[in-house]
Amino acid sequence: MHPHFRTIIEPFRIKTVEPIQFTTWEQRADIIKAAGYNLFLVRAENVLIDLLTDSGTGAMSSFQWAGMMQGDESYAGARSFYKFEAAAQRITGFKHIIPTHQGRAAERILFGNVCKPGYVVPNNTHFDTTRANVECQGAQALDLPCAEAHQPALIAPFKGNMDVDALAHILQTVPRDQVPVVMLTVTNNSGGGQPVSMANIRAVSQVCHAHGVPFFLDACRFAENAFFIKQREPGYADKTALEIAQEMFSYADGCTMSAKKDGMANIGGFLALHDDDLAQRCKNTLILTEGFPTYGGLAGYDLEAIAVGLEEVLHEDYLRYRLRSIAYLGEKLDAAGVPFMKPTGGHALYLDAAAMLPHIPASHYPAQALAVALYQEGGIRSVEIGSVMFGRVHADGSEEPAALELVRLAFPRRVYTQSHVDYVAEVVTYVARLKDNLRGYRISWQPPQLRHFSAQFEPLR
Ligand code: F0G
Repeated sequence: MHPHFRTIIEPFRIKTVEPIQFTTWEQRADIIKAAGYNLFLVRAENVLIDLLTDSGTGAMSSFQWAGMMQGDESYAGARSFYKFEAAAQRITGFKHIIPTHQGRAAERILFGNVCKPGYVVPNNTHFDTTRANVECQGAQALDLPCAEAHQPALIAPFKGNMDVDALAHILQTVPRDQVPVVMLTVTNNSGGGQPVSMANIRAVSQVCHAHGVPFFLDACRFAENAFFIKQREPGYADKTALEIAQEMFSYADGCTMSAKKDGMANIGGFLALHDDDLAQRCKNTLILTEGFPTYGGLAGYDLEAIAVGLEEVLHEDYLRYRLRSIAYLGEKLDAAGVPFMKPTGGHALYLDAAAMLPHIPASHYPAQALAVALYQEGGIRSVEIGSVMFGRVHADGSEEPAALELVRLAFPRRVYTQSHVDYVAEVVTYVARLKDNLRGYRISWQPPQLRHFSAQFEPLR
């Protein structure tokens, strides 16, 4: 970059455009009511700016589309698999790269092969599907975030870290064979998209290995995490994002990966590991549920898109723009006095609904109320990460609220421009001014698991 020019621009130009659809306030009132006030049940064509997730929603590059034309669709031993395998191995260094249709399939295969009822899986913070995949094996998903993670307004460089002392305590007290694996989620999505430091990765790895417990990364956003390390951790400023990522993986025995995030693809993922015996068992499960180990539920062209995406995601002009877009939104909201989780994360900004809406108790889902208001007022779709997603429903019907009431504004990769971000800031600021008029919700119907995807809500008066 030229030393005189400070504006960080989108490091791409646009070759194909997709129109987005405007709706009126009245139309949105009908749409959200018909969806039972659940944003997952709104049709995407009725959303103006879709910040529901950064997963599988990114724009692919011309190189990725060109790669897709070269997809080798052979059932076994396809050329595309070896390109994909080489791209994943270059970064992770793991011996076995097992393709899956997305991250949760890798989780299901891993936990299905290592967990038994009563086992414990520690993580800095489990993502919802990761937790559900541990729990559906009858095992306990234990979150061990660092103390700073509980203070949304606190500015600290690595709020995604795991509490290493708490982990050491668990490994000393729970019998070794009942902790099949320890995971570290980079960046820590459910904990605010906050990065994990290299020092923490190293320390967690040391504690695990001292107790003979395998250590895995949930690597969905490894490149964003690597760039935060470059920007914030002493000693890493002169290393490349690739070198930092390689060091991160060097401390681990394996990883699960959703290529829908830092694989820059619309679908895909993998499970990667060194252990031959476990890899063999996982490949057997893969054949049963996903496909032969050289395609694992993906088309050859998907493997090509991921191979190119894994290379592009480590381009530093991309990563600089990526983290800057979210920080830019954060600066605007900070100036307007809107409370959010600080500092801003890699893929998302997390509004602090508990701080913004103190008049709505957790039992009335303040983050759900805020998410619905952002859609109603500005056509923006976000996702509740609070008591709807993580509240615990006890057998007697009573509920334990989540630790935080957040609304995540997750940015698809390479999709929205600065004016879209300006608009989002304007809408959020407007809703924050209306906050005293917002009311909570009650759940009128919910499924037994992962209720946030399909629950129905009713507004409270
Ligand atoms: N782990 C983390 C940290 C995730 O964020 C996700 C997905 C997964 C695992 C599962 O991967 O979707 O490919 O099966 N997160 C998306 C999100 C859905 O919106 O944060 P998947």
